[in-house]
Amino acid sequence: MKKVRLGIAGLGHVGCGLIELVEQQAGLRLPGEVEIVGVSARSRSRNRPVSIGAYRWFDDAATLAEDPDVDVFVELMGGSDGPAKFAVETALNAGKPVVTANKALIAMHGQALEDLAQSRDVDLMFEAAVAGGVPVVRVLRDSLTGVTIQRVTGILNGTCNFLTTEMLRAARSYDDVLDEAQRLGYAEADPTLDVSGMDAAHKAAILASIAFTADLDFNRVSVSGVDTIELLDLVLADRLGLRIKLIAEALLSDQGVVCRVAPMALPMHHPLARIDGSLNTVRVEGPPLGAVTLTGPGAGAGPTASAVMGDISKLFSPTARSPFGRANHHVRRTFVDAAPTERSAFFLRVKLSDKPGALASLSEALAAQNVSVDKLLQDSADETGASPVAIMTHVCSRGDMRVAAAHVAGLSCTVGSPQLIPIDSMA
Ligand code: HSE
Repeated sequence: MKKVRLGIAGLGHVGCGLIELVEQQAGLRLPGEVEIVGVSARSRSRNRPVSIGAYRWFDDAATLAEDPDVDVFVELMGGSDGPAKFAVETALNAGKPVVTANKALIAMHGQALEDLAQSRDVDLMFEAAVAGGVPVVRVLRDSLTGVTIQRVTGILNGTCNFLTTEMLRAARSYDDVLDEAQRLGYAEADPTLDVSGMDAAHKAAILASIAFTADLDFNRVSVSGVDTIELLDLVLADRLGLRIKLIAEALLSDQGVVCRVAPMALPMHHPLARIDGSLNTVRVEGPPLGAVTLTGPGAGAGPTASAVMGDISKLFSPTARSPFGRANHHVRRTFVDAAPTERSAFFLRVKLSDKPGALASLSEALAAQNVSVDKLLQDSADETGASPVAIMTHVCSRGDMRVAAAHVAGLSCTVGSPQLIPIDSMA
């Protein structure tokens, strides 16, 4: 397909996020054009952040799924059974590829849907079903095929991780933080799916099936959630240097694949201990790789819609793309030098001869270029008579800082070469 025509069923947070992305596709890197042919949802008139007036409306998702104008059916309705399952089966039966974010559907019926998709020789894609915007399904399925996976661990529910992080950080109650997670669009329509551990278990089962080429059997997944965790547990664990988090785990035992979701207490040096807020993370371990960890936004409209779009881009043909992912219709940009007006804070280390006025000359050289000092440390002179000085500046223009640093290097009281390192404020 050179152009992909979508039928989108489900216009909640993610569905609306996807419509926004399609409308802004000029700024994306899709291999070809995406067009929305029709949409379907429970209510046509509900207030939404996007307008759907330009698209054909379908009361019934399955009718949309088999409409002859639809090339790819996108299922964002949710629910493991009922209309979502029927519409996905209808699309596959009609020979149309399906892209879904529906973890419950895939966890409960993935095996049968895989058989159906393969019998019709069409793709069934669900990157967005696991860990929202973190591209873990395709990495596990396609990129790590040379790894003998031994264990997959992860934080797979943004709502639960937001709950345990935020309750401890701000001493807030469970209900208060859960309300906020719902407002922010992290939580499921029914948040008991989140806090019971069920949502994370759906995702863990999907990852376990891919990692260990196992027939997906959700009934064997053991599940407990954060609904019994109190602030007191989090506070006392913190005093012991432990973070309580909802952890998903899949591993290979002699008998087969063990998959479970439960709260675990992690020592602070544990690789998952500092993954906070609504972030999700997946850590894959196995030889000869060692371990790889992917972390990012696991919930919310934009991140999840971006994963749906990633799947849609795989459905264009021909599949062989430019190695750098460029196509003729993309905006072509050029490499340039960074502008001297770009701004940053800096770490500046200087050694000054231990004489009156040395520090004043240093601060004058900085002030002359409008560089302002945020923090300053000075140590006693070493055996050569030079005093190390470390400065953290406020944010300033990189060009001004470079000029100031050159002046500092040329001061008669400066010993050796100063060290200038920009501070990355993104952390
Ligand atoms: N409710 C889910 C979460 C959204 O909180 O992670 C993404 O599946």
